[in-house]
Amino acid sequence: MIGIDLKNVEAGGLGVTHGIELEREYRAWADRLEGAVSDIFSRRDDPAEMLGWIGLPQAGAWVDEIESYAREVRQSDLTDLVVLGIGGSSLGALTVASALQHPYRALQARGDGLRLHFVDNVDPDAISGLMEVLDPSRTLVNVISKSGSTAETMAAYLAFKKWLEDDLGDGFSDRVVATTDPESGILRPLADRRGYRTFTVPPSVGGRFSVLSAVGLLPIALAGIDVRALLGGAARANDTVRRPIEENPIRQAALVQYLCYRRGKPISVLMPYSSRLRNLGGWFVQLWAESLGKAESLTGSLVHEGSTPLAAVGATDQHSQVQLFNEGPNNKLIAFVRVAEFDHRLNIPDSEPELEQLAYLAGESFNRLINAEQAATGHALAQHLRPNYTLLLERLDAASLGELLQFLMWQTALMGELTGINTYDQPGVELGKVYTYALMGRDGYDEVRAELEEQGLE
Ligand code: PA5
Repeated sequence: MIGIDLKNVEAGGLGVTHGIELEREYRAWADRLEGAVSDIFSRRDDPAEMLGWIGLPQAGAWVDEIESYAREVRQSDLTDLVVLGIGGSSLGALTVASALQHPYRALQARGDGLRLHFVDNVDPDAISGLMEVLDPSRTLVNVISKSGSTAETMAAYLAFKKWLEDDLGDGFSDRVVATTDPESGILRPLADRRGYRTFTVPPSVGGRFSVLSAVGLLPIALAGIDVRALLGGAARANDTVRRPIEENPIRQAALVQYLCYRRGKPISVLMPYSSRLRNLGGWFVQLWAESLGKAESLTGSLVHEGSTPLAAVGATDQHSQVQLFNEGPNNKLIAFVRVAEFDHRLNIPDSEPELEQLAYLAGESFNRLINAEQAATGHALAQHLRPNYTLLLERLDAASLGELLQFLMWQTALMGELTGINTYDQPGVELGKVYTYALMGRDGYDEVRAELEEQGLE
């Protein structure tokens, strides 16, 4: 189970302005959190509630299908997978693949699983560049869009379909696999017409909560990662969240996040001390921002809620953002992720014995150094009265990562309950989409286009 070390948020060390009296707050909030968790579990079978993410770790026949397709592809001569998707349709698989594949898989000619490439932007240079280096005859394209209509993803689909077709002719359709809603959107009927292999995103699972659905699991399985272990770890978080707060790191983290947010810490930093978890920050930022940043409360009052997420990586950002964290405004809560056992033990050799200034490093290990840096940074922050806590992973493997992802989804869900907003919608991104459609000349948007032109947009 993922552990939590909360000593650096305790009011005993930080004082009551910046710290939290944990025992007292646990007692005060235990019933509220118990109610929130029971309420979420009781609503989870109603598809309108968008709580389908909770049930994904139970797996089902859909996981067999993903595994058997991935096995087939991995036994073929395909070497590369291009994932076309944006936001929740991309960040989860990116996080897991970069954490669990060989750290330099893209540079290996042969290795476990396909090499993954994520097209999550409409940057002409990045797309052209990828097409220049990949061999279409060795590449599979997974187009992922729950709504089946996202402009960025569908533009990328049009480009990659042509790229494949130009090289492979009619045979290109075996090289496209589509992941989308069972019914809505244009991608499903398009895929059926073209004869693409398809996988389904359950309608009750929203994009940013979809990493453990076919959205994330298909690319993850194609990358050669054990999806069953990932789901098994996530199931552990589903068990943990039911426990009373005193023995429940998820409820504790959610409560600390909430109390800090309400008490002058509107910024929530996630800082794993692990290069392999570098992309976890991007996934968390999207999950936290899009879920919690809302104008209206559940009762319809204007509240403009939202804790602002920030991603950092240790030890790298000790030479960047940590200066701000220690001496800038005291408006952040910093959550570290610490891995106890790395896959490799790498000693620091005594290769410059005459340099006394480096003697403290020689004979030590990188393993000890990275975790000493984490502990030192947390302690220094606490000395500056900056609250911080640490999530503790035994090791970084599929099970612990699955547990961490589900942990952070639960933390987000509980934070949404406590702040009283709808965690699962995203009305704030709609207007920008409408303006884009209008500027791009989409049918039905002529009036908006005329308004925008009057204002000088083109
Ligand atoms: O979390 C979300 O709902 C969004 O970030 C979506 O994942 C993103 O907008 C992509 O949507 P779609 O999968 O419909 O293309």
